[in-house]
Amino acid sequence: MKKVGNHTSFSRILLFCLAFSLSFSITSYAQDTAASVAAAPADATAAPAEGAGDAVKGKELFNTLCAACHKLDAKSTGPALRGVADKHSREWLYSWVKNSSDMIKSGDAAAVKLFAENNKSVMTSFPQLSHGDIDNILAYTSAPAPVVEKPAAAAAGETSKTGVSNDLVLFALMLVLVVLIVMLVLVNRTLRRVSAANGVEVAKKDSSVSLWRAYAKNQFLVFVTVVLLLLSSSYFLYGYLMQIGVDQGYEPIQPIHFSHKIHAGDNGIDCKYCHSSARVSKTSGIPSLNVCMNCHKNVSEFQGDKDSTYVDHSKEFYSGEIKKLYDAVGWDAAAQKYTGKQKPVKWVRVHNLPDFVYFNHSQHVSVAGVECQTCHGPVETMEVMRQHSPLTMGWCINCHRETDVKVEGNDYYKKIHDELAKKYGVQKLTAANMGGTECGKCHY
Ligand code: HEC
Ligand code: HEC
Ligand code: HEC
Ligand code: HEC
Ligand code: HEC
Ligand code: HEC
Repeated sequence: MKKVGNHTSFSRILLFCLAFSLSFSITSYAQDTAASVAAAPADATAAPAEGAGDAVKGKELFNTLCAACHKLDAKSTGPALRGVADKHSREWLYSWVKNSSDMIKSGDAAAVKLFAENNKSVMTSFPQLSHGDIDNILAYTSAPAPVVEKPAAAAAGETSKTGVSNDLVLFALMLVLVVLIVMLVLVNRTLRRVSAANGVEVAKKDSSVSLWRAYAKNQFLVFVTVVLLLLSSSYFLYGYLMQIGVDQGYEPIQPIHFSHKIHAGDNGIDCKYCHSSARVSKTSGIPSLNVCMNCHKNVSEFQGDKDSTYVDHSKEFYSGEIKKLYDAVGWDAAAQKYTGKQKPVKWVRVHNLPDFVYFNHSQHVSVAGVECQTCHGPVETMEVMRQHSPLTMGWCINCHRETDVKVEGNDYYKKIHDELAKKYGVQKLTAANMGGTECGKCHY
């Protein structure tokens, strides 16, 4: 009796299949990198405008200081500022931004006219800005207006960059797989036919059954398996149980889609502008909607920026979210006044320690000088806020063991620092040396 092994032909086909799909995936990656290389120079068009200023720094200053009253391309409390550098002399602009009221009082013709044209609203004085700062802002306001791309064209560009090629590759792979399966079935059938014609018996599939029987009879093997099963299941059970109450990665949907990426990242707004109490109190707090309205009285439409990557949602979606903010505070954007009808926003809390734990922000942010990002992760890149750290007791204590206390420039504690360093015989004090692992420090 001769057994016919189909292995060689099968493995050959499998190898072929592997090589085929590999070559496909390599070409698809090659396309991706080619696309991104081609896209890179296009993204770099936001070069600083001519003149002495740095438009990127200017944008930051503009957003924090001026955006409350000025837009680039539309009138707001103050006039649109795009191209304002060509309207006045530099010297005029320096003294205007530093103190516009003085100029109006001194009777400067252009200043008096502007004041009259703008319902005699008073512009804030910025004596703290240097000429360099103002140059930067003017460089930003002098940048040419972004060309508005048609969404359809943009969408088409997107798909041609990645979508189509990926779909094509997937489709081709599917086709190859189907062809392979058909081929395998056919090969199997012809082989059987050939062996039947030659009078060769194909081996029956009964070997597996006897193998099981042999295994069941071998008590040692059974014992080892049971022990292994018990060990691994308790390992996983332990891991699972230790996860209870740990909400790392928790990312709830908020009533208003508020993007930290757009606010803290792209527009460079300081964390403490909104979370102002982090420095001085136990909690960081969520800003009240009035803080939002400092800017959003004027930022009513989402503009986006051609040099940034707002790929997550459409402009219409973002503008709709700003409308939700208006509904909540009762702001009538058309009439530019409050209607008095408010609907408080119920933000979903993301970070939440159990009640029996004492955690104090100012202790960490102001005294220890720990960056927000050390605990909260790269917030400025988060489109949706999520819990970055585990917030377990082990996490707190590990950091207390590893982090040196900031001793320099802290005369108040100098004596106690020196004494403690002597007591522990160390050069650098960790938070743990200071009592950062005592139960009572963290537990009420
Ligand atoms: C509190 C609101 C407010 C803020 C903040 C503000 N401005 Fe103004 N700005 C105005 C108003 C209102 C006018 C129109 C003149 C007037 O009524 O005094 C104006 C006018 C101007 C003008 C003259 C525009 C023209 O068309 O000639 C310039 C330039 C200017 N602002 C620059 C700035 C810069 C730069 C900043 C930020 C550093 C800034 N403003 C911040 C309210 C403001
Ligand atoms: C323009 C205002 C604004 C700025 C700037 C801002 N935030 Fe927030 N932050 C909010 C709002 C509103 C929420 C509540 C909605 C949410 O969770 O997304 C929030 C939520 C959070 C939370 C989660 C709070 C919770 O529920 O546990 C953390 C952590 C946080 N911010 C950290 C930061 C850090 C770090 C920065 C600076 C990189 C920053 N924020 C900048 C407005 C702001
Ligand atoms: C310092 C100014 C400033 C403050 C304060 C501010 N925003 Fe914004 N906000 C902006 C700017 C700038 C944009 C982007 C506009 C653009 O690119 O066209 C924006 C965009 C948005 C958007 C659309 C994009 C997104 O994140 O979904 C929403 C919604 C929004 N803000 C809500 C809020 C809320 C809620 C608050 C208060 C917690 C707030 N903003 C506070 C300046 C501010
Ligand atoms: C040492 C780690 C650490 C640092 C540094 C830190 N946080 Fe927190 N943050 C936490 C923990 C832990 C919580 C949960 C507190 C609770 O549930 O009582 C939290 C909660 C928050 C909340 C939710 C509201 C609240 O106060 O409970 C906000 C908002 C927040 N942090 C913002 C910030 C900002 C902004 C900074 C930087 C200025 C910062 N955090 C720095 C650990 C940190
Ligand atoms: C990123 C590192 C880091 C993390 C994470 C951290 N801490 Fe701290 N913590 C410090 C440092 C550094 C100090 C020392 C501050 C000082 O006195 O200069 C400190 C001090 C403290 C103190 C005061 C100790 C004393 O001696 O008075 C308490 C209480 C505390 N932390 C609680 C917590 C809790 C609760 C958590 C977890 C939810 C936590 N910390 C997470 C770095 C951290
Ligand atoms: C640096 C701060 C810190 C110190 C010091 C600390 N704990 Fe904790 N402890 C925490 C935090 C934070 C939690 C909450 C952990 C969670 O929710 O997963 C916690 C939780 C607990 C729990 C609840 C069980 C659990 O794991 O959730 C017990 C019990 C506990 N701690 C006992 C102690 C004892 C005993 C000490 C002294 C040896 C101590 N802790 C010191 C921060 C601390």
